[in-house]
Amino acid sequence: MKPVKVGICGLGTVGGGTFNVLQRNAEEIARRAGRGIEVAQIAMRSSNPNCQITGTPITNDVFAVATNPEIDIVIELIGGYTVARELVLKSIDNGKHVVTANKALIAVHGNEIFAKAREKGVIVAFEAAVAGGIPVIKAIREGLSANRINWVAGIINGTGNFILTEMREKGRTFPDVLAEAQALGYAEADPTFDVEGIDAAHKLTILASIAFGIPLQFDKAYTEGITQLTTADVNYAEALGYRIKHLGVARSTANGIELRVHPTLIPADRLIANVNGVMNAVMVNGDAAGSTLFYGAGAGMEPTASSVIADLVDVVRAMTSDPENRVPHLAFQPDSLSAHPILPIEACESAYYLRIQAKDHPGVLAQVASILSERGINIESIMQKEVEEQDGLVPMILLTHRVVEQHMNDAITALEALQDVIGSVVRIRVEQLN
Ligand code: HSE
Repeated sequence: MKPVKVGICGLGTVGGGTFNVLQRNAEEIARRAGRGIEVAQIAMRSSNPNCQITGTPITNDVFAVATNPEIDIVIELIGGYTVARELVLKSIDNGKHVVTANKALIAVHGNEIFAKAREKGVIVAFEAAVAGGIPVIKAIREGLSANRINWVAGIINGTGNFILTEMREKGRTFPDVLAEAQALGYAEADPTFDVEGIDAAHKLTILASIAFGIPLQFDKAYTEGITQLTTADVNYAEALGYRIKHLGVARSTANGIELRVHPTLIPADRLIANVNGVMNAVMVNGDAAGSTLFYGAGAGMEPTASSVIADLVDVVRAMTSDPENRVPHLAFQPDSLSAHPILPIEACESAYYLRIQAKDHPGVLAQVASILSERGINIESIMQKEVEEQDGLVPMILLTHRVVEQHMNDAITALEALQDVIGSVVRIRVEQLN
């Protein structure tokens, strides 16, 4: 059988990894796909010193790949929303299947792209968009298709996890670790996407859609990054038996779907609390399978290439099949997507870690306890530290039971209004994940 011809658009970290693994494992991949996969064209702006390209036609115009009649599958690895969207839509219009690692594109423009792909009977595959080398899209979309999924929770940004790990374990500074993550090719072109949680929110949006069968709704995701975290909170959390991780949580409730990304205290003995460095992990809780955990490298050249190529193999296997019989893009049949709403963060529910800086006066603790109890907030534990020498304030650390966020917002406003409470109350959500 003639080889399938693919065009790679973008030869950066992931594009270079994809090219190299396709060459190195060509025989093994062909045995799996049933046909050879030939890179017939590469579009790139500048050469990649990690790749030895001999004989493959090169262009600097990505649209030349989208319109090249020889090409069966376009691999979009240029990133961003604008040119990438145009490239993918043009490729689909020209009857090409598409493989992409672009989470921003799928999270923001996926509904439009999938509608166009259905119209044209082509596949758009995006395993590499979430959690690098972990085949979690396939696991949820196919392996767990018997389940009503209750929740998904994941460490889904390698750069953020790398930064938190290095800061906690080695006491390194935030900018120093971020610079290393950039040099290693983990970070986004704009690293604020990593540290402000936007990248994780893109990925969570995709996970929630395939877990619950809802349209992609990135604009409704609540996003909080790691830039405000302090060493003090990391240490207090440890003393309470928790680790702080940057977590994406998507939970189905009777009222709607929680879709939120934020720093989170997780009990230190959970497997996911021990996922360190650039590694990612996604927990999925389904009514039949219970909890499953998917772990692996969340970023990097070849781990991400592994997912891109797995998609390529899937496309090659399915490209001659009737489009009606393919796995739906968002796991559920497009006419069966649910309108269950995404909840605003104020309606989401979680337990909380609070750190209050108070004057060392009698009765402060009683006032704090009374504000919380008036709003139905149950305190699980309190830790009061010794007076801090530099400002004479007492840090009070509380863990609460689960409460609706709006009630906690009201309580924090009342706490901050107390005369003996100084500055803002630090609040970090807590998830038990059991
Ligand atoms: N910047 C992303 C991360 C790359 O650090 O996880 C992989 O999506």
